[in-house]
Amino acid sequence: MSLKLIANWKLHGSKSFCTQWLKDFKKDFQGPNTSSLGIASPSIFINNLALHSDNPGISIGSQNIDQVASGARTGEISSAMVKDCGGNFSIVGHSERRIFFNESNLDISKKLDLASESLITPIFCIGESLTEKQKGITGKVLEQQIIGALEQCLKLQSLIIAYEPVWSIGSGKTPEPKEINSIHENIKDIVQSRFSELDLQAVLYGGSVNMENASSIFKETEVDGALIGGASLKGKDFATIGNIFNDIKGL
Ligand code: PGA
Repeated sequence: MSLKLIANWKLHGSKSFCTQWLKDFKKDFQGPNTSSLGIASPSIFINNLALHSDNPGISIGSQNIDQVASGARTGEISSAMVKDCGGNFSIVGHSERRIFFNESNLDISKKLDLASESLITPIFCIGESLTEKQKGITGKVLEQQIIGALEQCLKLQSLIIAYEPVWSIGSGKTPEPKEINSIHENIKDIVQSRFSELDLQAVLYGGSVNMENASSIFKETEVDGALIGGASLKGKDFATIGNIFNDIKGL
């Protein structure tokens, strides 16, 4: 089963935070499907989480990888290092990376290729800004982001896409569930029609998903799962969202 619910811890955590999180999660999560759950932790904790005696089988991954495999790139980590430390996925092209670190479509395509080469699943993030939404060009922006990155890939075989409207991240605001559903449908159409050789495992929604709105979003048939930031920082809350997901999707 592909990854369905991924916790994006961003720049949060510590060794004791990891231990407490796993304990709290295990107490409340009711499903058997821990392998469809992931934690994108700060890279420095990947190995600890992957080998942790309290990890019930949750996949561990990174929030970013470098666009080259190795070299004089002080501060970067490679897809092969993530794999070597027990990780099996990486977020690629998150809007915070695009905005704060100037990541371009070409950078993202190189990262997608390297993830594929290292046998880790890339979680490729796309999403429109508030201005783009207000201009009514969301569909066009998403199409450009998808095509701009994927057409430059040479080795990518399989991926997950996370649709994350930039204006929704951390804001408490989300698009209407029906709107999310139709955007996911469009994303799947674009990938299937333009890149039919690629295995698109899932399209996740991300942006202010929490215990209150999870059920209305998961009820949409084209929503395969979620990438969750703020509401994933407590193991108990992530477990609750996981239980809601299992109930609705019948897992
Ligand atoms: P949020 O973040 O759930 O805090 O909005 C989501 C993300 O940025 O992946």
